[in-house]
Amino acid sequence: MTNTGTECLLLGITGGISAYKSVELARLLVASGARVRVVMTEAATRFVTPLTFQAVTGNPVHCHLFDEEYEAAMGHIELARWADQMLIAPATADFLARMAQGLADDLLSTLYLASSVPVSVVPAMNVHMWRHAAVQQNLSVLASRGVNILGPDSGAQACGDAGPGRMLEPTDIVAALGSLNHRGMFAGNKVLVTAGPTQEAIDPVRFVGNRSSGKMGFALAEAFVREGAEVVLVSGPVALNTPPGVRRVNVQTALQMHGAVFENIKKTDIFAGCAAVADYRPELPEGQKIKKTSERLALNLVRNPDILAEVAALKDGPYTLGFAAETENLAENARAKLLAKKLNMLAANPVGDNLGFERDDNSLLVIWPGGEKQLPVQDKGALAQSLLGILEQQYQAHVGHVKGS
Ligand code: PMT
Repeated sequence: MTNTGTECLLLGITGGISAYKSVELARLLVASGARVRVVMTEAATRFVTPLTFQAVTGNPVHCHLFDEEYEAAMGHIELARWADQMLIAPATADFLARMAQGLADDLLSTLYLASSVPVSVVPAMNVHMWRHAAVQQNLSVLASRGVNILGPDSGAQACGDAGPGRMLEPTDIVAALGSLNHRGMFAGNKVLVTAGPTQEAIDPVRFVGNRSSGKMGFALAEAFVREGAEVVLVSGPVALNTPPGVRRVNVQTALQMHGAVFENIKKTDIFAGCAAVADYRPELPEGQKIKKTSERLALNLVRNPDILAEVAALKDGPYTLGFAAETENLAENARAKLLAKKLNMLAANPVGDNLGFERDDNSLLVIWPGGEKQLPVQDKGALAQSLLGILEQQYQAHVGHVKGS
């Protein structure tokens, strides 16, 4: 196995300006230990010559469906069988449309239909083309058939426009393939993560909220995907992009979060409650903006449901990982919450004084019945990964215990 996790990789090149980047991509794939065979569409050969890819991969490049020389050496069905994986980079709007339609009018589109291996596409096109409903619809069709869509990047484009549509950089493509092929600690597990704050309306323009940015919960969702889990992320209002591979459900209030969690909780193996859910909401939000007429204003608040505690109380429910945000007596309060909510595990972080919330880094005291571990201050991405290491051990022990009992 290579560090992309694949042995025989069929690299398809379609006709876009970013085809030049695929030379470096092919080089990196070969350097990672993969055996690479390149298939180019007619249009792709106008941007880069087949000879370039032949030199980089050390293998002949295939361009035509009806080519006696290539068919004699390796027929196209054989080529489809040879591959462990197909990667199409760049994938133009036209080629994505042909894949979605199931057309087989050239070698690459025929190979796509003839092969049953995992397929990844790296879209590259002008920003307006990328945003067109037809392109988005074709991508949804492909995603629903299990095609991995890697990228695109956003930024300046060769045509002078700027925005999403740029092909991912070769190093990012190689890394993305590595994570796709890495089976991971939570392969086969369904995970539900909550993240971000909730906002509880006072009137149409004001709300009761908190400082959660969603960074910790999103990092956790991303780490779970990297480790092979199928992840649903129920998120309050945050300004973060959805990590690739995550199914995101947006909510605003605690009641909506409660609804979204219980709609998705069935068959969930692990529930990770990282959201800072408002404990209280205004009892009767005003229908119109409150006017500044009195010196004092009292808000009447009522309790929100405790989502985590309700999930933990489910019969045959998921393994529950709660979070605790504490401004004092971290360990003591965390242990009390673990017991009170009957959780399997709790990750407690100090907050206030510019800690925990909003920052890119954090520290966690992870506790479970019978053990604890302190994870020092580090980037939330790295912290999430370390937390999953602890979680995996405890989760496996829990599964073994449940099966044995
Ligand atoms: O989003 P960031 O800016 O990255 O910050 C990360 C974080 C500090 C928000 C995160 O690490 C964290 O601590 N999240 C939990 C915050 C919190 O609400 O803690 P709590 O002690 O009030 O709640 C305990 C647990 O019960 C939490 O898992 C919470 O999701 C859950 N809860 C709380 C109230 C409620 N009504 N329903 C719940 O499910």
